[in-house]
Amino acid sequence: MTRITAQPGIMDIALYQGGRSQLAGVTDVLKLSSNENLLGAPPAAGAALVQAAQGMHLYPSTDHAPLRAAIGEVWGLDPERLICGVGSDEVLQFVSQAFSGPGDEIIYTEHGFSMYPILANMAGATPVCVPENERVVDVDAILAAVTERTRIVFLANPANPTGTMLANGELDRLADALPDYVILVIDGAYVEFATDYDGGISLARSRPNVLVTRTFSKIYGLGGLRVGWGYGAPALIDVMTRIRQPFNLSVVQLAAAEAAVRDTDWVKDCAALNVEQRARLTGALRQLGLACDDSHANFVLARAQSEAEADAAEAALNADGILIRRVGGYGFPTGLRITVGNAEQTGRVIAALTRWREGATP
Ligand SMILES: Cc1ncc(COP(=O)(O)O)c(C=O)c1O
Repeated sequence: MTRITAQPGIMDIALYQGGRSQLAGVTDVLKLSSNENLLGAPPAAGAALVQAAQGMHLYPSTDHAPLRAAIGEVWGLDPERLICGVGSDEVLQFVSQAFSGPGDEIIYTEHGFSMYPILANMAGATPVCVPENERVVDVDAILAAVTERTRIVFLANPANPTGTMLANGELDRLADALPDYVILVIDGAYVEFATDYDGGISLARSRPNVLVTRTFSKIYGLGGLRVGWGYGAPALIDVMTRIRQPFNLSVVQLAAAEAAVRDTDWVKDCAALNVEQRARLTGALRQLGLACDDSHANFVLARAQSEAEADAAEAALNADGILIRRVGGYGFPTGLRITVGNAEQTGRVIAALTRWREGATP
C-alpha cells in the first residue's frame, strides 16, 4: 500500500473535453468544434515565429516586456498591470491558485466554461455552481451565492457555449455589489467578436478586485501556440507573477503574439466577417427549426427539440465532413455549438442541415 495521496480536490477533476478534430475515413474535415479562427493567424505572426525560431537556443525573456508593451500600446493599457500566460487558461489558473485554497469557494455559472470548476478543484477550493436565467448569467443568483468563503467569481462575457452576454450595466452592478475580498474575473476569450463592449477593462482599471483575461487563441488564430493575458490592479498582478514560471512563454510564442496583436486590421476584418456569417448562420438555423439565441461570439449554439434530433443533425453534419461540438456536459443535451466560418464554410453547414431536413441524409 502506498501512502502517496493527491492534494484535496484533484481526484474530483473530470478531465477537460476538447472539440473533436477527426472523423474516421474523412480527409476534408471542416472543424467547427473549438471556436478557432478558420482564417488562421495574421501572416505577420507566422513570419515573426519563423524569425524567432532562429534564437531558440536562448532562453526567452522572463518578464515578457516587449509583448506587454505591444498589448499595452494597442489596447491603451499600462503594461505594469498585465500578465501573460500559456493561453488565458494559465492566467485563470494563476488567479485561482494564488487566491484560493481548501475551505474557499469559487463561484461559476450553470453553463459556464468547463475549466472553472476544474481550476477550483486544482486549487483545492470548492466550486459553487449558480443558475443562469434563460442561458444568460444571472447577477442576482451570483450575489445570492456569495459567502464569507467566496474568493473568486468566474464568468465569461460573451459566454461559452451560449454566446450570450450580460445586459449593459449588469457587470457594473455585479462589481459594485461584490464584497471587496472577492475577485471578479471577467473572461474575455470572445470579446473581439462583440460590439460596443470594452470587455470589462474600465472596471478592471478602476477596481482592485476585478481581473480581465484575454486570449490569442480565438480571433488571432493562435490556438495552437497558447498565449493569453490578464489585466488588473498592480497588487493582483504582483501576486500572480510570483507563481508564474519565469520562462512560461517560449521565444516563438512571444514573437508571434506580439506581431499578431499589432495587426489590428486583421482583427477588424475577421470580426466583420464573423458578424456577417454569424447572422447568416443564426437565421438559417432558425429557419431550419433549430432555436438559437443571438450570439456575440464566433459560434452559435443551436438547440434541437430532442436529443434524438440533435444526434440526427450531428450525424448529417458529420456525413458531410463537418465537426461541431455537442455540449451535453454544459447542460445542453440537445445543443450543437457551431463555430462560425467564412462564407463557403457557413454555406456548407447550411447545405448539410437543409439536406437533412429535406430527408436526404440520415
Ligand atoms: C470562455 C473561455 N475562456 C477561456 C478559454 C481558454 O482559452 P485559451 O487557454 O486558449 O486562451 C476558452 C477556450 O475555449 C473559453 O472558451
